[in-house]
Amino acid sequence: MTQQQTGLLSGKVALITGASSGIGAAAARVFAREGASVVLFARREKELASIVDELKGDGHKAAYVVGDVVQPDDVARAVRFAVEQFGALHAAFNNAGYGVGRTPLHLMDDSVYDQIMDTNVRGVWNCLRQEITVMLEHGGGSIVNTSSVGGLVATPVAAPYVTSKHAVIGLTKAAAAEYGSQGIRVNAVAPGTTRSEMVAQWFDQNPGVEEMLHQLTPQPRTAEPEEIAEAAAWLCSDRASFVTGAVLPVDGGFTIL
Ligand SMILES: NC(=O)c1ccc[n+]([C@@H]2O[C@H](COP(=O)([O-])OP(=O)(O)OC[C@H]3O[C@@H](n4cnc5c(N)ncnc54)[C@H](O)[C@@H]3O)[C@@H](O)[C@H]2O)c1
Repeated sequence: MTQQQTGLLSGKVALITGASSGIGAAAARVFAREGASVVLFARREKELASIVDELKGDGHKAAYVVGDVVQPDDVARAVRFAVEQFGALHAAFNNAGYGVGRTPLHLMDDSVYDQIMDTNVRGVWNCLRQEITVMLEHGGGSIVNTSSVGGLVATPVAAPYVTSKHAVIGLTKAAAAEYGSQGIRVNAVAPGTTRSEMVAQWFDQNPGVEEMLHQLTPQPRTAEPEEIAEAAAWLCSDRASFVTGAVLPVDGGFTIL
């Protein structure tokens, strides 16, 4: 799907976490196409370097930082880098996340719960704290967190993931309530099933699950990562200037049934 450039994010500096693949990589391309200078953050250097090379080759301003959202120092380094490299931080897409499912709650290993909550909740927490700190110094900004349809409704055998994505919505609303008067908007996207590495693995290991999900979705298909990235770009942009604390499902109608 090719979209026309509209300059939605012209002049903005944006940090995107989980940018080495899937929705985050798509967001790096969409945000750059819309005029943002982008800082990509994730753990896999090779993938980040390749996307940044591609973006620079297309004439965009892009750079990357290797790090883990669970580590506050890594996140602080990425935020500092964005400001040093491009002069400010106007937008952030806190998208890094992780989830495994298919295990009943009472059989789920505690370490799985810890890993999912660490990445999805503490990761967003770490990002919000650092981003808000610099946005307050620079007169405001816009932040989008990646939740999930699992943050709005429960899906079976994925209790830690569902818990973590509900918490992302709580953090989004809490931050939006606190910083709205200081020029910072905080919203969330709630993707439905979206083509990505994580989901490809899940579909491979669970034949039939993709078709089952399509049957439960008014638009009966799997989303492309760009479709989620487009929603995040709009929420980050000034065209969403009176939208804060919102959770935007990008799910083909999955959560309306
Ligand atoms: N694909 C879907 O169906 C779907 C649906 C709803 C929500 N989501 C959410 O979308 C987000 C992106 O996932 P995706 O589908 O693109 O999958 P993905 O696995 O392709 O991408 C996840 C990204 O996050 C990065 N990441 C994971 N843990 C990290 C950490 N500790 N520090 C830094 N980076 C880390 C990964 O390296 C990768 O770049 C996640 O938050 C996921 O929970 C995905």
